Amino acid sequence: LVAGVDSSTQSCKVVVLDAESGALARAGRASHPEGTEVHPDEWWRALSEAFGDAGGLADVSALSVGGQQHGMVLLDLEGNVVRPALLWNDTRSAGSAEDLTAEVGAEDFARRTGLVPVASFTITKIRWIRDHEPESMARVAAVALPHDWLTWRLRGYGPAGSSPLGPDLDELTTDRSDASGTGYWSPLTGRYDLDLFKLAFGQDAREASGGTTTAAPGVVVLPRVLGPGETAGRVHPACFGGRGASEALGGGILLGVGAGDNAAAALGLGAKPGDVVVSVGTSGTVFAVDSSPGHDVSGTVAGFADASGEYLPIAVTLNAARVLSSVAAVLGVDFDGLSRLALEAEPGSGGVVLVPYFEGERTPNRPHAKASFHGLSIASTTRPNIARAAIEGMLCGLAGGLDALRDQGVRAERLQLIGGAVQNPAVQRIAAQVFDLPVVIPSPGEYVARGAAVQAAWALAGYRPDWPVALDATPEPDFRASIGQNYRKVSARVDAGN
Ligand code: XUL
Repeated sequence: LVAGVDSSTQSCKVVVLDAESGALARAGRASHPEGTEVHPDEWWRALSEAFGDAGGLADVSALSVGGQQHGMVLLDLEGNVVRPALLWNDTRSAGSAEDLTAEVGAEDFARRTGLVPVASFTITKIRWIRDHEPESMARVAAVALPHDWLTWRLRGYGPAGSSPLGPDLDELTTDRSDASGTGYWSPLTGRYDLDLFKLAFGQDAREASGGTTTAAPGVVVLPRVLGPGETAGRVHPACFGGRGASEALGGGILLGVGAGDNAAAALGLGAKPGDVVVSVGTSGTVFAVDSSPGHDVSGTVAGFADASGEYLPIAVTLNAARVLSSVAAVLGVDFDGLSRLALEAEPGSGGVVLVPYFEGERTPNRPHAKASFHGLSIASTTRPNIARAAIEGMLCGLAGGLDALRDQGVRAERLQLIGGAVQNPAVQRIAAQVFDLPVVIPSPGEYVARGAAVQAAWALAGYRPDWPVALDATPEPDFRASIGQNYRKVSARVDAGN
């Protein structure tokens, strides 16, 4: 058996799959605390609970960790977490993003790293620490990401005195997909851009050696970037009683390299060139697997690497599932009620348009924007129109991301729609109208955790890009109708004045 972990913004999910067939054996789940600043110990607690919920690891041979991207985990020389992690959806570093863009130039930044800074990316968070928390900065000996830190802890490393192997920072590892969301690693060269790190943080950095170099004050350690065919080591037997099927393997559950959640979802879905994945979760993401690295100087599309050796151009919105829960709450209905109301309205919601920037926005880059309803008249202000405009507005934000991917030359033939919110019938129906592509809705599944399990299978049996991920998808919904491009023009016009 192999296990995959999705340590996401809201919860930790674990799936245990049959290593040969990919069939689901069992699963577990535990919640993460709310907020955009969370202590990594909470991820560790939830991971332990989710393993327990999934029936433990006794018969598991390999596992791998997928996680929310960009979160900044700062460690001191003793392996302690310096301060709670600032997550991808924490926008306090918006000013730092502007500063870095002005200092480097958007074009140069994109050419060097594949992206233009926005508040989500780790580089803006380290700049924010430099400028606002000198006492934290003075303690920083390593900067890691959520999945890096969990993998390191699983291997037995951690704070001196409370981990079996202690604080060896040179044992920190990451993978290309997550490294590419830092803003100081380049998918184009496959290397850290240490000059950019220094510009942002004011200190030198080096990549972890994987050996026993002693970390020294003044030079920050960055996790060693592993390729898709490598392994990150083994789970330490003292972790979660995690000896697993170790006797046969010669000691300890094997660990895959791990991945950022979007790259892991692409693996779990078996996404191929021509597929575009749209995920409607806490974040809204639009991404595709592509064979060449991108660098969109407008910053709309971030040119990430993927987890299989290819690339993952991506556009991300901050306003997705929670737009729907907020509007549902105001209308005094639950998610099903919102769906029923929305389906009572005509496409275009009688001219009511929601610009959905409830939490500022990242794509387009408007960290301080607010949401607004437009086009209200006495006749158009009905509960069905408001409900439908909420779904249309949220999805049109993502459709803008799809347009931007296409502008970058990404082939889009089919759209795979995933995420908690897409089980909602109105979201399914309206998505098929907004995205002018055939829409496939795979049966509900933990695709990030499944993708991590694919990496675990690679750790066990060698890198096999074709490892069984033949997923059943529900038949293509045939709801394509009218609003698509026209509606998006209305939305863009309103948006331009925001
Ligand atoms: C990707 C991003 C989000 C997080 C959510 O750039 O910021 O999708 O990874 O977990």
